[in-house]
Amino acid sequence: MRTQGVDVPSLIDIDRYPITEPGTPAFDNLIAQVQEDLAARGCGCLPGFLSDDGLQKIAAEARDLAPHAYGGPTEASPYFFNYQTDALAKYPENHPLRRKGERNLRQVAGDLIPEASALKSLHQSALMAEFLGALFGMPRLYPGADKYQALNISVMPPGGCQQWHFDRGNMTTTLMLQSPEGGGEFQYAPHVRSEENENYDEVARILDGDLTGCHSVSMEPGTLMLFRGHYSLHRVNRVTGNRDRLLGILSYNPEPGVVGALDSSILHYGERVAAT
Ligand SMILES: [Fe+2]
Repeated sequence: MRTQGVDVPSLIDIDRYPITEPGTPAFDNLIAQVQEDLAARGCGCLPGFLSDDGLQKIAAEARDLAPHAYGGPTEASPYFFNYQTDALAKYPENHPLRRKGERNLRQVAGDLIPEASALKSLHQSALMAEFLGALFGMPRLYPGADKYQALNISVMPPGGCQQWHFDRGNMTTTLMLQSPEGGGEFQYAPHVRSEENENYDEVARILDGDLTGCHSVSMEPGTLMLFRGHYSLHRVNRVTGNRDRLLGILSYNPEPGVVGALDSSILHYGERVAAT
């Protein structure tokens, strides 16, 4: 089971997470356990998902690529779409739709991650697409096809953070590759909004600093995290100490060939992507 010459199963702690053995009781138990967490809190963590060797390889790739990361916007809305808030003038100034939070992180775009890297091989593998499909209750998933957005490395330097926000999609998969000395915790408020109700009062309460009901996760390197971020408000709090926080962000979709908007890529990866 090799992708681009990389032995993908060797990147994963298969003894702990037997994802190569669908149909066995151990596989079914794993799926059931993570699905229970996803249903209850919108978040499932698999600590030690990467093998020692896998973590070492992929974290080294991330450190090598980190200098190529692009900074993007330094503030953003919880809803992303309103970088220009003119159209929202009818709302009160402190309405969540008009609020922006500090965003201090850089991202390595997918096209800068080598095809033969362990990280891209893992992302592209049928093994991951089928395992994640089972977790999200589908026959399989497909890695995103956008050459910039489908696979990213998030580089959060000391002092870095990400503002409270909702994701556009509802299936986020991340791999913690290097944890900071302090801070950099993933914090989330499960099921804050629904298709029927944006629940702006609750969003405003959290934006104002009341974290009642929020969960805080500090992930060890090698942790795979699945998150349903379209309905759950979430952020990363400030990184302290001297070490970057490095995180792989792996996009998957229920159908093949999904690409994102070019204007979003230009915003997040820089003008260079406009010309390609
Ligand atoms: Fe997010």
